[in-house]
Amino acid sequence: MDKKTFTKISYGVYIIGTRDNQRLCGCTANSSMQITSEPASIAISINHNNYTNKCIKDCGEFSINILSTESNPLLIGTFGFKSSKDTDKFSGFEYEIKDGLPVLKDICGYILCKVVQSVETQTHTIFIGEVKDAQTLNENIPMTYSYYHNVIKGTSPKNAPTYIEA
Ligand SMILES: Cc1cc2nc3c(=O)[nH]c(=O)nc-3n(C[C@H](O)[C@H](O)[C@H](O)COP(=O)(O)O)c2cc1C
Repeated sequence: MDKKTFTKISYGVYIIGTRDNQRLCGCTANSSMQITSEPASIAISINHNNYTNKCIKDCGEFSINILSTESNPLLIGTFGFKSSKDTDKFSGFEYEIKDGLPVLKDICGYILCKVVQSVETQTHTIFIGEVKDAQTLNENIPMTYSYYHNVIKGTSPKNAPTYIEA
């Protein structure tokens, strides 16, 4: 099997936001896709070992912060290579709380979801969220996963569903 073929699949780059009992939490994710139009629903795939997985299970909600090519790449590193278990990832960035969920300022749009279904795989939970609200913040170009790899020269850690062992 040529796993590199998977890199031909197109994705965006997102910061998934959620919360635990103490603070806001979340992680970088490329795995987000619209599932249905009416009612609108969106799926994300989150590794069992990511603290974000437990937080979404406990609070039943998540925000999808859509990064653009103008977004600070530090967001991707902070949210993608650290854990909310021991870091307040939001502390260095501007954000607002919308319906209890974190929405970053440095994005081109956001979607707020309530979990209506989840599917367990061996390593990841697929959370299907019904969309409660969605807003466009500006007309910046949404960041693609391929832009992240080819222009920003970023990498993906082991817990990303797209991770390929070197
Ligand atoms: C570009 C990129 C894409 C990622 N995509 C996903 C993803 O779709 N699902 C996932 O579970 N982890 C993904 N990750 C990994 C998590 O962001 C990472 O494991 C993070 O540290 C988890 O933080 P947490 O413990 O606070 O949840 C991605 C990381 C990067 C850098």
